[in-house]
Amino acid sequence: MIIEEKRAWWKEAVVYQIYPRSFADSNGDGIGDLNGIAQRLDYLKNLGVDVIWISPFYPSPNYDNGYDISNYRDINPEFGTMEDFDRLLEGIHARGMKLVIDLVVNHTSSEHPFFIESRKSKDGPYRDFYIWKDGKDGKEPNNWGSCFSGSAWQYDETTGQYYLHLFAPQQPDLNWANPKVRDQVFDMMTWWCDKGIDGYRMDVIGMIGKENFDDGEVAPGALYGSFEKSCQHTETTHRYLREMRERVLDKYDLLTVGEAGGTCEGAIRYASLDGKELNMIFSFEHNDGLNDGTPLGKWSDHGAPLGEVREIINRWQLGLIGKAWNTVYLSNHDQPRQVSRYGNDSPLFRVRSAKMLATLVHMLHGTPYIYQGEELGMTNIYFTKLSQYRDVEVFNAWKQWVESGLVHPEDMMRYFARISRDNARTPMQWNTEKHAGFTTGTPWIEVNKNYLEINAEDEVHDPDSVYNYYKALIALRHAEPVVVYGSFVPMLMDDNSVYAYRRELDGQVLTVLCNWTEKTVPCAIQELTEGKLVVSNYDKHKTDALQPYEALVYLKK
Ligand code: NOJ
Repeated sequence: MIIEEKRAWWKEAVVYQIYPRSFADSNGDGIGDLNGIAQRLDYLKNLGVDVIWISPFYPSPNYDNGYDISNYRDINPEFGTMEDFDRLLEGIHARGMKLVIDLVVNHTSSEHPFFIESRKSKDGPYRDFYIWKDGKDGKEPNNWGSCFSGSAWQYDETTGQYYLHLFAPQQPDLNWANPKVRDQVFDMMTWWCDKGIDGYRMDVIGMIGKENFDDGEVAPGALYGSFEKSCQHTETTHRYLREMRERVLDKYDLLTVGEAGGTCEGAIRYASLDGKELNMIFSFEHNDGLNDGTPLGKWSDHGAPLGEVREIINRWQLGLIGKAWNTVYLSNHDQPRQVSRYGNDSPLFRVRSAKMLATLVHMLHGTPYIYQGEELGMTNIYFTKLSQYRDVEVFNAWKQWVESGLVHPEDMMRYFARISRDNARTPMQWNTEKHAGFTTGTPWIEVNKNYLEINAEDEVHDPDSVYNYYKALIALRHAEPVVVYGSFVPMLMDDNSVYAYRRELDGQVLTVLCNWTEKTVPCAIQELTEGKLVVSNYDKHKTDALQPYEALVYLKK
């Protein structure tokens, strides 16, 4: 099946995500900054990156590392100044790359002037910028739990009411039903667009339209009810996005990607090809969704078996092609390192499995997102002490589950080591100098000790490195339209070891075979493929079997 896709730069692009706190520190304070990013632009250009997405760099008290913003039109002094930002943007554009910034407008920081005003009195001009409710029978207004454990409501003594926070109490939810809130958000977005940014990644954008405040379902073993039905992917959210599109987005040529999750059907509404809302959304099914139904949600021992991951990814590929645009990714700042979660980070298999996962993702239909350090095959850090963590999500989960006696500390520490977000937030490993060349000061979070073996300087110069493998995959995408616009045909669906698929466009055929396991497995390579081998993570190949974590890409022109 050949599908006519309209060409667009954001479909052809490869996006690289930077978590600024952990990328590169230029002034020795132990925290990455904008000038640090500016110094590394050639590294990204050399990799072949088209678009850089930088996680929030705005003023913030950092309860959630910048996803709690106290001023939307300035730069956090930890990261630099507005002049630094302007210079960075210029440097990105001068190299022919584009910049996407993070739009965090489901909530602000509790230290944002709007919230400071809002909490002062019940009838102040900013009261209605947030969601305030009376308690019910001396308790919270409803049973919703927050995404970071505990109730989603915080009692505020000043006025004797509760405010809603779907994340930490320091992240009160904005009241999008108030047109003045929407005016403020859209003005601010326009201001950044006029500065020359090229797009927005929209934080938890599926939650902005709250439709009611009814108690939610309590899953077996859960302590709180779910806000899902009232606040996720509502008609109201779609209406706000169409308004955003008309009032801001349509005036510029932007990449817009919503952090929304949900189902394929939902994604088609957000990101349909005839485009009334967003260009694309991030799905969560292949990461967070793997834990659905486990009592503690993401805190579990559940692995990432091929069958489950493939069923989800293929469903999204087939479900969206021709209707909406996909994002493809395995890593970001909210997930553990992909080679540790989906691959194998032991010394014997790390490089091969990192390359196999990269092949699998970059040859799929959709815009690929690389998270910093993924291109080096960086691994989880596996902290052993609670004091090593920095993430609010970890501390709140500890309080809810361990301090209450519901979960054994050892079990929780094991879950954290597997899945906590801090695994992705350890500093970028640049070279073999102290602190991996990330900082000359004391890093805000520990550097992974494996930086002597895994670092950018060595990998840039090593033709067999994970970095140079990513470079080859990106170059293939840039050269061959079938990688971007080809159809998607799943193969070998009964095989428990091999993830295989084909892409087709105007007579071109791309075949991808990936061994998901550490064993050599039978595979009729010759019968399944056409054309020439164009990418592989092995030098020598068998004709009837795939070696451990072997990946092969064949192209027939
Ligand atoms: C999603 C972001 O990716 C995550 O890092 C953050 O904690 C929450 N949204 C709240 O903003």
